[in-house]
Amino acid sequence: MATPARLDQPWWATAAVYEIYIRSFADSDGDGIGDIGGIRSRLGYLKNLGLDAIWVSPWYPSPQKDNGYDVTDYFEINPEYGTLAQAEALIAECHAIGLKLIIDIVPNHSSDQHLWFREALAAEPGSPERNRYLFRNGLGQSGEIPPNNWQSIFGGPAWTRVTEKNSEPGQWYCHLFAAEQPDFNWENSDVRAYFENVLRFWLDRGVDGLRIDVAHGLVKAKGLPDAADEHDVELLAAKTLPFFDQEGVHEIYRGWRKILDSYEADRMAVAEAWVFPSSRIANYVRPDELNNSFNFDFLCSPWDPTELRKVIDTSIEAMESVGAPPSWVFNNHDVVRSSDRFALGLISGSGKTTLERLGDPAKLDRQLGTNRARAAALLMLALPGGAYLYQGEELALPEVRDIPEDRLADPMWRMSGYTDRGRDGCRVPLPWTKDSSGSYGFSANLEIAPDQAWLPAPTWWGNYSVESQSGVQRSTLELYRQALTTRSSEEGFRQGQMTWLATTQEVLAFKRGNNIACYLNFGKCYSLPEGAKVLLSSAPIVDHTLPTDSAAWLWLA
Ligand code: NOJ
Repeated sequence: MATPARLDQPWWATAAVYEIYIRSFADSDGDGIGDIGGIRSRLGYLKNLGLDAIWVSPWYPSPQKDNGYDVTDYFEINPEYGTLAQAEALIAECHAIGLKLIIDIVPNHSSDQHLWFREALAAEPGSPERNRYLFRNGLGQSGEIPPNNWQSIFGGPAWTRVTEKNSEPGQWYCHLFAAEQPDFNWENSDVRAYFENVLRFWLDRGVDGLRIDVAHGLVKAKGLPDAADEHDVELLAAKTLPFFDQEGVHEIYRGWRKILDSYEADRMAVAEAWVFPSSRIANYVRPDELNNSFNFDFLCSPWDPTELRKVIDTSIEAMESVGAPPSWVFNNHDVVRSSDRFALGLISGSGKTTLERLGDPAKLDRQLGTNRARAAALLMLALPGGAYLYQGEELALPEVRDIPEDRLADPMWRMSGYTDRGRDGCRVPLPWTKDSSGSYGFSANLEIAPDQAWLPAPTWWGNYSVESQSGVQRSTLELYRQALTTRSSEEGFRQGQMTWLATTQEVLAFKRGNNIACYLNFGKCYSLPEGAKVLLSSAPIVDHTLPTDSAAWLWLA
């Protein structure tokens, strides 16, 4: 059983949470698409990894224009993924083995196939139906110019013009993401009441947490003013934008907190909010707002001791200012996998060309990337607070760079005018077996070849599989297992503080509790402190020396 957090802390304050991208995790019914049955069949694996919780990406009915982040019904399960009864069974089975379950809530936008949006299209301009979304008249002589200069995060204008009942071009609606993802109007009380019902519906079914998609985007600046610079569209915006991080979002979260607190057992919500400066994330986790937030600063940091230390210090400081625990993220379904980022010095963010996003493959040193990703894992899992892992990082999966263009499913590819391959490279179905049948064990249907799953797997995928790494000393999978298990069992890791230890400039070292320490070496070989016992290391320790680009956990003498 996972060790509960300290008695005076809720479970999520220190939880190791594993993101399941449901489409790519495990396919139980043999259609080449992951599903709830697949998750249920792999609960033993997840438990054995030493996790505290899983977060499942959106599982609702959806045309899958953005892999479920385009929802048609917030109260049902996508038939491709299973049924409501299966979702309830999953919740119960997680609880029976001591795992918490977090689901995704997508409140910024729905699918264009959602009943409300279809009603809005069928209704007149100015009608209550249109008022649930952001419809506006266009500018110019005949309304042919979009209402403002906002750009979609996936590329192109954030506005699409509709055809009215008289067959004439009419109003425009706002979509910060794909055109098939119209933004809700959060000034509308119907929208607010609707989502309060969504929250209650799933909390009633026993989910432990909610991951709030685009938590910083719901409320737009009054009057929908132009952005100062129309190119400032990045999710990871380096400026305050009229469509992100507006003061009005906080009132919504204060209401949601009351709902969460009306349930027993520390139900929580975690914000996905890319805000600038990142210290503003603290506003989302004030004592009466959401409980936790992803901290994306590691995704934007180079492999550099000074930079990483700065991220750690500023993140902890920001969270302390509101009494919230910090959290750490090195991977998720939106960013290039950490092993590739660290090998090529890539910084995450959207609005990039393929070369900017993925770097130059000719310069890719896979071993270097893997070494660094393994060291980063020990860093993250030793830090105070919560850690959010993404499926496959425990296998050191690399980014898949050569998915054929006609198989790319991410709307970013299409909407960037085919200049940004998008995020599919980190979403290829997980390899479970060495053998390629069932797309490396992803599908229960062994007839499914690697190129027949919803995203094709490369020929070398089996080398990284769970089967290839299970029980293999020094594999990344075993490193994660040991790290997660040690993190759960050692009280020192559960205590709030960390203390930096004096080292050289090229080594980060800090202490947790009375005598556990984490050392991460960016420079030449480093002699570990005398008398210290090595608990775990990301690379072999010879002569008590920590090699370059590796980390170790120590018991200090
Ligand atoms: C953030 C999600 O993580 C991403 O995958 C999605 O495309 C956007 N939100 C839009 O919902």
